[in-house]
Amino acid sequence: MFRSPRGTQDVLPEDSAYWRFVEAQARRQAELFGYGELRTPTIEDTALFLRGVGEGTDIVDKEIYSFKDKGDNDLALRAEGTAPVMRAYLQHGMQQRPIPVRLYSLINAFRYDRPQAGRYREFHQFNCEAIGDVDPLIDAEIILVLWEFLLSLGLQNLSVQLNSIGDQTCRPAYKQALQEYFSQHSDKLCPDCQRRLETNPLRLLDCKVPSCQPFIAGAPNTIDYLSPECAEHFERVQDYLKLRDVPYTINPRLVRGLDYYTHTVFEVWPATVGAQSALGGGGRYDGLAEQIGGPSTPGVGFATGLERVILNLKEQGIEPPASPAVVAYCVVMNEAGRQEAVKLTAELRARGVPCTIGTRGRSVRAQMRQANSLAAQFAVIIGDDEITAGTVTLRDLLGATEQKLPFANAVDAIATPGTGMINE
Ligand code: HAM
Repeated sequence: MFRSPRGTQDVLPEDSAYWRFVEAQARRQAELFGYGELRTPTIEDTALFLRGVGEGTDIVDKEIYSFKDKGDNDLALRAEGTAPVMRAYLQHGMQQRPIPVRLYSLINAFRYDRPQAGRYREFHQFNCEAIGDVDPLIDAEIILVLWEFLLSLGLQNLSVQLNSIGDQTCRPAYKQALQEYFSQHSDKLCPDCQRRLETNPLRLLDCKVPSCQPFIAGAPNTIDYLSPECAEHFERVQDYLKLRDVPYTINPRLVRGLDYYTHTVFEVWPATVGAQSALGGGGRYDGLAEQIGGPSTPGVGFATGLERVILNLKEQGIEPPASPAVVAYCVVMNEAGRQEAVKLTAELRARGVPCTIGTRGRSVRAQMRQANSLAAQFAVIIGDDEITAGTVTLRDLLGATEQKLPFANAVDAIATPGTGMINE
Protein backbone atom coordinates (compact mmCIF):
# COMPACT_ATOMS: atom_id res chain seq x y z
CA MET A 1 0.00 0.00 0.00
CA PHE A 2 1.30 3.46 -0.84
CA ARG A 3 1.90 6.00 1.88
CA SER A 4 2.56 9.72 1.57
CA PRO A 5 6.31 10.43 1.23
CA ARG A 6 8.22 10.85 4.50
CA GLY A 7 7.90 14.36 5.88
CA THR A 8 4.69 15.16 3.97
CA GLN A 9 1.17 15.18 5.35
CA ASP A 10 -2.42 14.75 4.21
CA VAL A 11 -4.87 17.22 5.70
CA LEU A 12 -8.11 15.40 6.48
CA PRO A 13 -11.44 17.24 6.50
CA GLU A 14 -11.54 17.42 10.32
CA ASP A 15 -8.17 19.18 10.33
CA SER A 16 -8.82 21.45 7.39
CA ALA A 17 -10.87 23.75 9.64
CA TYR A 18 -7.56 24.80 11.23
CA TRP A 19 -6.02 25.44 7.83
CA ARG A 20 -8.93 27.48 6.60
CA PHE A 21 -8.94 29.52 9.80
CA VAL A 22 -5.21 30.23 9.65
CA GLU A 23 -5.21 30.98 5.92
CA ALA A 24 -8.23 33.28 6.20
CA GLN A 25 -6.60 35.24 9.06
CA ALA A 26 -3.35 35.44 7.09
CA ARG A 27 -5.11 36.93 4.05
CA ARG A 28 -7.09 39.25 6.26
CA GLN A 29 -4.05 40.60 8.14
CA ALA A 30 -1.98 40.99 4.97
CA GLU A 31 -4.79 42.83 3.22
CA LEU A 32 -5.42 45.06 6.25
CA PHE A 33 -1.84 46.26 5.86
CA GLY A 34 -2.26 46.77 2.11
CA TYR A 35 -0.44 43.66 0.85
CA GLY A 36 -1.55 42.14 -2.46
CA GLU A 37 -1.42 38.42 -3.18
CA LEU A 38 1.37 37.08 -5.39
CA ARG A 39 1.47 33.46 -6.56
CA THR A 40 4.71 32.04 -7.90
CA PRO A 41 5.48 28.56 -9.30
CA THR A 42 6.41 25.59 -7.12
CA ILE A 43 9.55 25.09 -9.23
CA GLU A 44 12.28 27.62 -9.94
CA ASP A 45 15.76 27.55 -11.44
CA THR A 46 18.02 25.88 -8.87
CA ALA A 47 20.48 28.76 -9.28
CA LEU A 48 17.91 31.21 -7.89
CA PHE A 49 18.21 29.53 -4.48
CA LEU A 50 21.96 28.89 -4.75
CA ARG A 51 22.55 32.60 -5.32
CA GLY A 52 19.64 33.97 -3.32
CA VAL A 53 19.66 31.88 -0.15
CA GLY A 54 23.41 31.26 -0.50
CA GLU A 55 25.76 28.32 -0.81
CA GLY A 56 27.08 27.35 2.62
CA THR A 57 23.59 27.51 4.15
CA ASP A 58 21.91 24.28 5.24
CA ILE A 59 18.97 24.98 2.94
CA VAL A 60 21.16 25.01 -0.15
CA ASP A 61 23.87 22.54 0.87
CA LYS A 62 21.75 19.86 2.48
CA GLU A 63 18.05 20.43 2.02
CA ILE A 64 17.24 21.61 -1.49
CA TYR A 65 15.18 19.31 -3.72
CA SER A 66 16.92 19.91 -7.04
CA PHE A 67 16.65 17.84 -10.19
CA LYS A 68 17.06 17.90 -13.93
CA ASP A 69 13.82 17.79 -15.89
CA LYS A 70 13.43 15.95 -19.18
CA GLY A 71 14.70 19.04 -21.03
CA ASP A 72 17.92 19.01 -18.95
CA ASN A 73 16.93 22.16 -17.04
CA ASP A 74 18.27 22.48 -13.48
CA LEU A 75 15.18 23.04 -11.38
CA ALA A 76 14.41 23.01 -7.66
CA LEU A 77 11.25 22.74 -5.63
CA ARG A 78 10.65 26.04 -3.85
CA ALA A 79 12.83 25.94 -0.72
CA GLU A 80 11.54 29.27 0.59
CA GLY A 81 9.49 32.19 -0.65
CA THR A 82 11.67 35.30 -0.67
CA ALA A 83 14.03 34.64 -3.59
CA PRO A 84 11.07 33.68 -5.86
CA VAL A 85 9.15 36.82 -4.83
CA MET A 86 12.18 38.99 -5.62
CA ARG A 87 12.60 37.12 -8.93
CA ALA A 88 8.98 37.87 -9.81
CA TYR A 89 9.33 41.51 -8.70
CA LEU A 90 12.30 42.00 -11.04
CA GLN A 91 10.85 39.93 -13.89
CA HIS A 92 7.62 41.95 -13.98
CA GLY A 93 9.22 45.36 -13.56
CA MET A 94 7.40 45.97 -10.29
CA GLN A 95 9.95 48.74 -9.58
CA GLN A 96 7.54 50.92 -11.55
CA ARG A 97 4.84 50.53 -8.90
CA PRO A 98 4.50 52.72 -5.82
CA ILE A 99 7.07 51.62 -3.28
CA PRO A 100 7.24 49.67 -1.16
CA VAL A 101 5.56 46.99 -3.21
CA ARG A 102 3.73 44.92 -0.61
CA LEU A 103 3.24 41.27 -1.54
CA TYR A 104 1.97 38.26 0.35
CA SER A 105 1.78 34.59 -0.57
CA LEU A 106 0.52 31.36 0.92
CA ILE A 107 2.94 28.73 -0.34
CA ASN A 108 4.18 25.21 0.03
CA ALA A 109 7.93 24.84 0.40
CA PHE A 110 10.25 21.83 0.42
CA ARG A 111 13.35 21.06 2.43
CA TYR A 112 15.02 17.69 2.77
CA ASP A 113 15.28 17.77 6.54
CA ARG A 114 14.91 15.15 9.27
CA PRO A 115 11.15 15.08 9.91
CA GLN A 116 10.00 15.64 13.50
CA ALA A 117 7.22 17.55 15.24
CA GLY A 118 6.99 20.93 13.51
CA ARG A 119 9.60 20.04 10.90
CA TYR A 120 8.53 18.54 7.60
CA ARG A 121 9.86 18.06 4.09
CA GLU A 122 6.86 19.72 2.54
CA PHE A 123 5.54 22.56 4.68
CA HIS A 124 3.49 25.69 4.18
CA GLN A 125 4.27 29.32 4.78
CA PHE A 126 2.46 32.61 5.00
CA ASN A 127 5.01 34.89 3.44
CA CYS A 128 4.99 38.71 3.30
CA GLU A 129 7.50 40.93 1.55
CA ALA A 130 7.73 44.73 1.27
CA ILE A 131 10.13 45.58 -1.55
CA GLY A 132 11.77 48.83 -2.64
CA ASP A 133 11.94 50.87 0.57
CA VAL A 134 14.70 51.37 3.14
CA ASP A 135 12.47 53.06 5.74
CA PRO A 136 12.79 51.38 9.17
CA LEU A 137 9.03 51.92 9.51
CA ILE A 138 8.63 49.08 7.01
CA ASP A 139 10.82 46.73 9.07
CA ALA A 140 8.52 47.42 12.01
CA GLU A 141 5.43 47.02 9.82
CA ILE A 142 6.55 43.59 8.68
CA ILE A 143 7.08 42.47 12.29
CA LEU A 144 3.68 43.90 13.13
CA VAL A 145 1.90 41.99 10.34
CA LEU A 146 3.33 38.74 11.70
CA TRP A 147 2.64 39.69 15.29
CA GLU A 148 -0.97 40.75 14.69
CA PHE A 149 -1.61 37.68 12.55
CA LEU A 150 -0.53 35.41 15.43
CA LEU A 151 -2.53 37.42 17.98
CA SER A 152 -5.62 37.39 15.72
CA LEU A 153 -5.57 33.59 15.99
CA GLY A 154 -5.72 33.88 19.78
CA LEU A 155 -2.15 32.67 20.40
CA GLN A 156 -0.54 33.77 23.64
CA ASN A 157 2.84 33.75 25.35
CA LEU A 158 4.85 34.51 22.25
CA SER A 159 8.02 36.54 22.11
CA VAL A 160 9.65 38.54 19.33
CA GLN A 161 13.40 37.99 19.17
CA LEU A 162 15.10 40.91 17.48
CA ASN A 163 18.62 41.66 16.29
CA SER A 164 20.45 43.72 13.72
CA ILE A 165 23.29 42.20 11.72
CA GLY A 166 24.26 45.46 10.02
CA ASP A 167 25.11 45.81 6.35
CA GLN A 168 28.13 45.47 4.08
CA THR A 169 29.79 48.48 5.76
CA CYS A 170 29.88 46.96 9.24
CA ARG A 171 29.80 43.26 8.32
CA PRO A 172 33.57 42.89 7.47
CA ALA A 173 34.69 44.15 10.91
CA TYR A 174 32.17 41.88 12.62
CA LYS A 175 33.18 38.85 10.55
CA GLN A 176 36.78 39.51 11.40
CA ALA A 177 35.97 39.77 15.10
CA LEU A 178 34.11 36.45 14.87
CA GLN A 179 36.97 34.80 13.03
CA GLU A 180 39.48 36.02 15.58
CA TYR A 181 37.32 34.90 18.47
CA PHE A 182 36.43 31.44 17.12
CA SER A 183 39.96 30.75 15.84
CA GLN A 184 41.08 30.61 19.46
CA HIS A 185 38.72 27.64 19.95
CA SER A 186 38.87 26.12 16.48
CA ASP A 187 40.15 22.70 17.60
CA LYS A 188 37.12 22.31 19.88
CA LEU A 189 34.50 23.29 17.31
CA CYS A 190 32.43 20.75 15.38
CA PRO A 191 33.67 19.93 11.83
CA ASP A 192 30.87 22.02 10.27
CA CYS A 193 31.87 25.03 12.36
CA GLN A 194 35.54 24.56 11.50
CA ARG A 195 34.49 24.82 7.85
CA ARG A 196 32.18 27.78 8.56
CA LEU A 197 35.06 29.60 10.24
CA GLU A 198 36.67 29.90 6.81
CA THR A 199 33.59 30.20 4.59
CA ASN A 200 30.91 32.03 6.57
CA PRO A 201 31.72 32.82 10.22
CA LEU A 202 28.24 34.28 10.86
CA ARG A 203 26.79 30.79 10.40
CA LEU A 204 28.73 29.63 13.47
CA LEU A 205 26.26 31.49 15.67
CA ASP A 206 23.49 29.34 14.23
CA CYS A 207 25.14 25.99 15.08
CA LYS A 208 22.97 23.64 17.14
CA VAL A 209 25.71 21.17 18.15
CA PRO A 210 25.82 21.10 22.00
CA SER A 211 29.62 21.14 22.29
CA CYS A 212 29.77 24.40 20.29
CA GLN A 213 27.29 26.23 22.52
CA PRO A 214 29.72 27.47 25.22
CA PHE A 215 31.88 29.09 22.53
CA ILE A 216 28.88 30.64 20.82
CA ALA A 217 27.71 32.07 24.14
CA GLY A 218 30.94 34.09 24.49
CA ALA A 219 31.10 35.34 20.88
CA PRO A 220 31.09 39.06 20.00
CA ASN A 221 27.65 40.65 19.47
CA THR A 222 26.63 42.05 16.10
CA ILE A 223 25.07 45.14 17.60
CA ASP A 224 28.43 46.20 19.09
CA TYR A 225 29.82 46.43 15.55
CA LEU A 226 27.01 48.37 13.85
CA SER A 227 27.91 51.50 11.89
CA PRO A 228 26.20 54.69 13.15
CA GLU A 229 23.70 54.47 10.24
CA CYS A 230 22.87 50.83 10.98
CA ALA A 231 22.56 51.54 14.70
CA GLU A 232 20.21 54.45 13.93
CA HIS A 233 18.07 52.21 11.66
CA PHE A 234 17.84 49.62 14.43
CA GLU A 235 16.81 52.26 16.96
CA ARG A 236 14.01 53.50 14.71
CA VAL A 237 12.66 49.97 14.22
CA GLN A 238 12.51 49.57 17.99
CA ASP A 239 10.81 52.94 18.44
CA TYR A 240 7.97 51.87 16.13
CA LEU A 241 7.64 48.51 17.87
CA LYS A 242 7.42 50.27 21.23
CA LEU A 243 4.70 52.54 19.88
CA ARG A 244 2.62 49.44 19.17
CA ASP A 245 3.62 47.69 22.43
CA VAL A 246 5.16 44.73 20.65
CA PRO A 247 7.06 42.85 23.38
CA TYR A 248 10.44 42.23 21.80
CA THR A 249 13.71 40.95 23.23
CA ILE A 250 17.05 41.85 21.73
CA ASN A 251 18.78 38.59 20.97
CA PRO A 252 22.38 39.15 19.88
CA ARG A 253 22.69 35.47 18.84
CA LEU A 254 19.94 35.68 16.25
CA VAL A 255 21.50 35.51 12.77
CA ARG A 256 18.96 33.38 10.86
CA GLY A 257 19.74 30.48 8.55
CA LEU A 258 19.68 32.27 5.19
CA ASP A 259 22.42 34.45 3.74
CA TYR A 260 20.50 37.36 2.29
CA TYR A 261 19.83 39.32 5.48
CA THR A 262 21.06 42.80 6.36
CA HIS A 263 20.03 45.10 9.22
CA THR A 264 16.95 43.83 11.06
CA VAL A 265 16.45 40.12 11.70
CA PHE A 266 13.72 38.65 13.90
CA GLU A 267 11.89 35.50 14.90
CA VAL A 268 8.74 34.83 16.89
CA TRP A 269 9.12 32.07 19.44
CA PRO A 270 6.48 30.25 21.44
CA ALA A 271 6.98 30.34 25.20
CA THR A 272 7.63 26.64 25.67
CA VAL A 273 10.13 25.51 23.06
CA GLY A 274 13.58 26.44 21.80
CA ALA A 275 14.92 28.05 18.67
CA GLN A 276 14.27 24.89 16.62
CA SER A 277 10.61 25.70 16.62
CA ALA A 278 10.39 29.37 15.69
CA LEU A 279 6.86 30.14 14.60
CA GLY A 280 8.13 32.56 12.03
CA GLY A 281 11.05 34.71 11.10
CA GLY A 282 12.42 37.17 8.65
CA GLY A 283 14.28 40.40 8.22
CA ARG A 284 15.66 42.92 5.80
CA TYR A 285 17.48 41.71 2.68
CA ASP A 286 18.83 44.75 0.88
CA GLY A 287 21.45 42.70 -1.01
CA LEU A 288 19.22 39.93 -2.36
CA ALA A 289 18.17 41.55 -5.64
CA GLU A 290 21.79 42.08 -6.65
CA GLN A 291 22.73 38.55 -5.61
CA ILE A 292 20.21 37.21 -8.10
CA GLY A 293 21.33 39.53 -10.90
CA GLY A 294 19.00 42.53 -10.47
CA PRO A 295 19.61 46.18 -9.63
CA SER A 296 20.14 47.09 -5.98
CA THR A 297 16.68 46.87 -4.37
CA PRO A 298 15.94 46.91 -0.65
CA GLY A 299 13.36 44.61 0.88
CA VAL A 300 12.08 43.25 4.16
CA GLY A 301 9.78 40.34 4.92
CA PHE A 302 8.84 37.34 7.00
CA ALA A 303 7.52 33.83 6.66
CA THR A 304 5.64 31.81 9.24
CA GLY A 305 5.18 28.05 9.10
CA LEU A 306 1.51 27.16 9.06
CA GLU A 307 2.04 23.64 10.43
CA ARG A 308 3.80 25.16 13.44
CA VAL A 309 1.10 27.76 13.88
CA ILE A 310 -1.53 25.00 13.90
CA LEU A 311 0.51 22.89 16.36
CA ASN A 312 0.60 25.90 18.68
CA LEU A 313 -3.13 26.49 18.31
CA LYS A 314 -3.74 22.89 19.36
CA GLU A 315 -1.27 23.14 22.24
CA GLN A 316 -3.03 26.28 23.48
CA GLY A 317 -6.45 24.64 23.10
CA ILE A 318 -7.65 27.14 20.48
CA GLU A 319 -10.35 25.71 18.25
CA PRO A 320 -11.04 27.05 14.77
CA PRO A 321 -14.57 28.00 13.77
CA ALA A 322 -16.34 24.79 12.70
CA SER A 323 -16.26 23.89 9.02
CA PRO A 324 -19.67 23.80 7.41
CA ALA A 325 -20.94 20.28 7.97
CA VAL A 326 -23.73 18.50 6.18
CA VAL A 327 -26.88 20.19 7.46
CA ALA A 328 -29.53 18.01 5.82
CA TYR A 329 -29.39 14.31 4.93
CA CYS A 330 -32.12 12.89 2.68
CA VAL A 331 -33.16 9.41 3.72
CA VAL A 332 -34.71 7.67 0.71
CA MET A 333 -36.31 4.25 0.29
CA ASN A 334 -36.61 3.80 -3.45
CA GLU A 335 -35.94 5.33 -6.83
CA ALA A 336 -38.93 7.72 -6.69
CA GLY A 337 -37.68 9.05 -3.35
CA ARG A 338 -34.16 9.39 -4.70
CA GLN A 339 -35.46 11.51 -7.60
CA GLU A 340 -37.38 13.79 -5.21
CA ALA A 341 -34.23 14.08 -3.11
CA VAL A 342 -32.15 15.13 -6.14
CA LYS A 343 -34.57 18.03 -6.68
CA LEU A 344 -34.81 18.92 -2.99
CA THR A 345 -31.03 18.95 -2.45
CA ALA A 346 -30.57 21.16 -5.54
CA GLU A 347 -32.95 23.72 -3.98
CA LEU A 348 -31.22 23.51 -0.63
CA ARG A 349 -27.77 24.00 -2.16
CA ALA A 350 -29.07 26.96 -4.17
CA ARG A 351 -29.92 28.46 -0.78
CA GLY A 352 -26.51 27.67 0.63
CA VAL A 353 -27.37 24.60 2.70
CA PRO A 354 -24.84 21.73 2.58
CA CYS A 355 -26.79 18.50 2.09
CA THR A 356 -26.48 14.98 0.83
CA ILE A 357 -28.55 11.92 -0.14
CA GLY A 358 -28.40 8.36 1.16
CA THR A 359 -27.18 6.02 -1.56
CA ARG A 360 -28.58 2.83 -3.07
CA GLY A 361 -28.47 -0.37 -1.06
CA ARG A 362 -28.57 1.25 2.42
CA SER A 363 -31.50 0.55 4.71
CA VAL A 364 -33.40 3.43 6.33
CA ARG A 365 -31.68 2.57 9.60
CA ALA A 366 -28.26 2.65 8.03
CA GLN A 367 -29.03 6.00 6.43
CA MET A 368 -30.23 7.43 9.77
CA ARG A 369 -27.03 6.19 11.40
CA GLN A 370 -25.00 7.91 8.70
CA ALA A 371 -26.97 11.16 9.10
CA ASN A 372 -26.16 11.07 12.81
CA SER A 373 -22.50 10.31 12.37
CA LEU A 374 -22.16 13.18 9.88
CA ALA A 375 -23.69 15.36 12.61
CA ALA A 376 -26.42 16.50 10.21
CA GLN A 377 -29.03 18.72 11.81
CA PHE A 378 -31.92 17.37 9.76
CA ALA A 379 -32.92 14.02 8.32
CA VAL A 380 -35.33 14.55 5.43
CA ILE A 381 -37.25 11.30 5.07
CA ILE A 382 -38.83 10.65 1.66
CA GLY A 383 -40.71 7.32 1.62
CA ASP A 384 -43.74 6.06 -0.31
CA ASP A 385 -46.27 7.80 1.98
CA GLU A 386 -44.48 11.08 1.60
CA ILE A 387 -44.33 10.85 -2.18
CA THR A 388 -48.05 10.09 -2.40
CA ALA A 389 -48.84 13.06 -0.14
CA GLY A 390 -46.30 15.42 -1.77
CA THR A 391 -44.56 15.91 1.56
CA VAL A 392 -41.39 15.00 3.40
CA THR A 393 -40.85 14.05 7.02
CA LEU A 394 -38.40 16.50 8.52
CA ARG A 395 -36.70 15.14 11.60
CA ASP A 396 -34.63 17.59 13.64
CA LEU A 397 -31.85 15.32 14.83
CA LEU A 398 -30.62 17.77 17.44
CA GLY A 399 -34.01 18.65 18.94
CA ALA A 400 -35.44 15.16 18.30
CA THR A 401 -38.67 16.64 16.86
CA GLU A 402 -40.41 15.59 13.70
CA GLN A 403 -42.95 17.15 11.34
CA LYS A 404 -44.51 16.39 7.98
CA LEU A 405 -44.19 19.30 5.58
CA PRO A 406 -44.91 20.00 1.94
CA PHE A 407 -41.76 19.89 -0.16
CA ALA A 408 -41.43 23.70 -0.54
CA ASN A 409 -42.02 24.35 3.17
CA ALA A 410 -39.35 21.82 4.09
CA VAL A 411 -36.78 23.75 2.05
CA ASP A 412 -37.81 26.93 3.87
CA ALA A 413 -37.69 25.30 7.29
CA ILE A 414 -34.20 24.00 6.70
CA ALA A 415 -32.83 27.10 4.99
CA THR A 416 -34.24 29.69 7.41
CA PRO A 417 -31.65 31.36 9.68
CA GLY A 418 -31.41 29.71 13.04
CA THR A 419 -32.53 26.37 11.72
CA GLY A 420 -29.45 25.35 9.86
CA MET A 421 -28.70 27.77 7.07
CA ILE A 422 -25.01 28.54 7.27
CA ASN A 423 -24.44 31.59 5.13
CA GLU A 424 -26.71 34.17 6.67
P1 HAM B 1 12.81 30.41 7.56
O1 HAM B 1 13.21 30.82 8.93
O2 HAM B 1 13.68 29.45 6.84
O3 HAM B 1 12.70 31.76 6.73
O4 HAM B 1 11.35 29.85 7.60
C1 HAM B 1 10.29 30.61 8.15
C2 HAM B 1 9.38 29.72 8.96
O5 HAM B 1 8.95 28.61 8.17
C3 HAM B 1 10.02 29.08 10.18
O6 HAM B 1 10.02 29.95 11.27
C4 HAM B 1 9.11 27.90 10.42
O7 HAM B 1 7.93 28.30 11.09
C5 HAM B 1 8.74 27.48 9.01
N1 HAM B 1 9.59 26.35 8.58
C6 HAM B 1 10.83 26.40 8.07
N2 HAM B 1 11.28 25.17 7.79
C7 HAM B 1 10.30 24.31 8.13
C8 HAM B 1 10.14 22.89 8.07
N3 HAM B 1 11.10 22.08 7.58
N4 HAM B 1 8.96 22.36 8.52
C9 HAM B 1 7.97 23.15 8.99
N5 HAM B 1 8.08 24.49 9.07
C10 HAM B 1 9.22 25.07 8.64
C11 HAM B 1 12.33 31.84 5.41
O8 HAM B 1 11.87 30.93 4.78
C12 HAM B 1 12.49 33.25 4.84
N6 HAM B 1 12.12 33.18 3.43
C13 HAM B 1 11.62 34.21 5.61
C14 HAM B 1 11.66 35.59 5.03
C15 HAM B 1 10.73 36.20 4.29
N7 HAM B 1 12.66 36.45 5.19
C16 HAM B 1 12.38 37.55 4.55
N8 HAM B 1 11.21 37.40 3.97
